[in-house]
Amino acid sequence: MDQTIALNAVSIGPLRAAKPADVDSLLDRVFGADRRRRTAYRIRDGMTAIDDLSFAAFDRGGALVGSLQCWPAALDGEVPVILVGPVAVEPALQREGIGRAMMDRMIAAADYLGSDPLVLIGDPEYYGRFFGFESHWTREWTVPGPVERRRLLARVPEGITLPAEGHLGPRR
Ligand SMILES: CC(C)(COP(=O)(O)OP(=O)(O)OC[C@H]1O[C@@H](n2cnc3c(N)ncnc32)[C@H](O)[C@@H]1OP(=O)(O)O)[C@@H](O)C(=O)NCCC(=O)NCCS
Repeated sequence: MDQTIALNAVSIGPLRAAKPADVDSLLDRVFGADRRRRTAYRIRDGMTAIDDLSFAAFDRGGALVGSLQCWPAALDGEVPVILVGPVAVEPALQREGIGRAMMDRMIAAADYLGSDPLVLIGDPEYYGRFFGFESHWTREWTVPGPVERRRLLARVPEGITLPAEGHLGPRR
């Protein structure tokens, strides 16, 4: 489907407008039912999603077709960062612009709110190319589980730096 047509048929709104059961079932379809064992879940263990930075995509009929959540996290418990993810698009509708629309909306909100640096585990070919995420910030960080170093990415606002070393986990 042409990207313009797809986006016209989809609206982006706050994730709170989606039923939690629908979000869970979308995430199970996209990442598998064992998704909770992933390192990203351990990084934000016990945290509550940030309402202002969590978005959903709905089709014309109101069905949930995408979700993006953000969480409080920190280096060594104290240096605040925001963990982005999971970012999920209904498998049959992937690569039609829905992921980018949700990410653009979240980044615009984060920039507007002057939020802390964003971190995520994801493909640099996607998150670097479209949204400016980079792995050089995270080279010496440790995380609570296995990670492919090239997929541990950060997007840091101009004029801000992050510690070169530290353990990425829940915020204290
Ligand atoms: C990754 C994901 C969120 C992207 O959203 P999407 O709506 O499918 O993709 P978009 O339409 O926004 O982006 C399309 C462009 O990104 C590229 N792209 C999409 N996913 C990519 C990936 N994983 N790696 C590299 N490029 C990717 C496409 O090739 C396309 O490029 P083009 O415009 O040059 O053709 C979605 O595909 C998804 O849910 N994937 C499975 C779950 C996942 O891997 N999530 C990320 C980790 S949290």
